Amino acid sequence: MTISTGERTKLLIDCDPGHDDAVAILVGHRHFDLLAITTTHGNSSLENTTRNALAVLELAGIADVQAAKGAASPLVGATHHAQHVHGKSGLDGHDLPLPSLQPVPDHAIDVIIETARAHQGELILAVIGPATNIALALRKEPRLAGWVKEVTVMGGSGGGGNMTAAAEFNAYCDPEALAAVMTAGWPLRMVGVDVTRTVGIDAANIEILRASGKRTAGVIADLLSFYMSRQTERTGLTHAPMHDACALIPLLDPDAMTYRETRVDVELTGTYTRGMTVCDFRGSPVKNPNARVAVVPNQQRLVGVMMDTVLSYP
Ligand code: BDR
Ligand code: CA
Repeated sequence: MTISTGERTKLLIDCDPGHDDAVAILVGHRHFDLLAITTTHGNSSLENTTRNALAVLELAGIADVQAAKGAASPLVGATHHAQHVHGKSGLDGHDLPLPSLQPVPDHAIDVIIETARAHQGELILAVIGPATNIALALRKEPRLAGWVKEVTVMGGSGGGGNMTAAAEFNAYCDPEALAAVMTAGWPLRMVGVDVTRTVGIDAANIEILRASGKRTAGVIADLLSFYMSRQTERTGLTHAPMHDACALIPLLDPDAMTYRETRVDVELTGTYTRGMTVCDFRGSPVKNPNARVAVVPNQQRLVGVMMDTVLSYP
């Protein structure tokens, strides 16, 4: 593994924890200079995702990362949650204690804008839930697109969805917001569910986490057991897919993922295809490219980093 050392990349994670978000937060804190976490509706209500984000920080003993609450609903249309995958709390499988950490009083939109303003040209924005907060931040401060070094999105798909036949969950939950993010003109990479569903922590690895005797790894093992069984029931997957961490690790380990530069547009109107990310893979020259889209994951490297990371916490 060639995770770079030296000065750590500045990172803000916009998320909706969520089991895979929880692992992504641990990866973000361990390997990046994680400046802030902002929360959104998505896997569960905003109240739940915010509580879960704080509970994960507290579990791992992370006290130096501010968390800010964001949007409770999408720009347009109904709000959707993924109780069928992540349970009633959004993080079922272990009764985490109510966190004593509190979110900062500022809205997520302002935290995103101010963090990017303070670290112009240095900040990576990881968008691993519905993109509502980022779209609202762009609307409030259009210069944001020029301040951010790169955006990395877990969302959409290079082919086939998980929420509908065509649409991935994060994209489906707020297609208008994702469209704004995709067309903002900033450097952007996207990893879709067609790729991330193939990268996961399986029963053998869950046992390794449990047997480690570490508190954090033990709780993550319980959480992932629940999440994996939901995945198995619904989709036949025999691992707990780690969608969100796949948006982070390739920033540190270029050999973890192969990307293709392409044009991605988000379908906003289709009766059967709303929320679909239409990726133009027809070949070169690519017309009006706006993203590097993940096409081939290195599962072993990605899962290796996730496992080492979880095991590195007390
Ligand atoms: C995405 O949807 C959520 O359920 C996961 O946390 C991930 O961000 C996968 O489609
Ligand atoms: Ca997520």
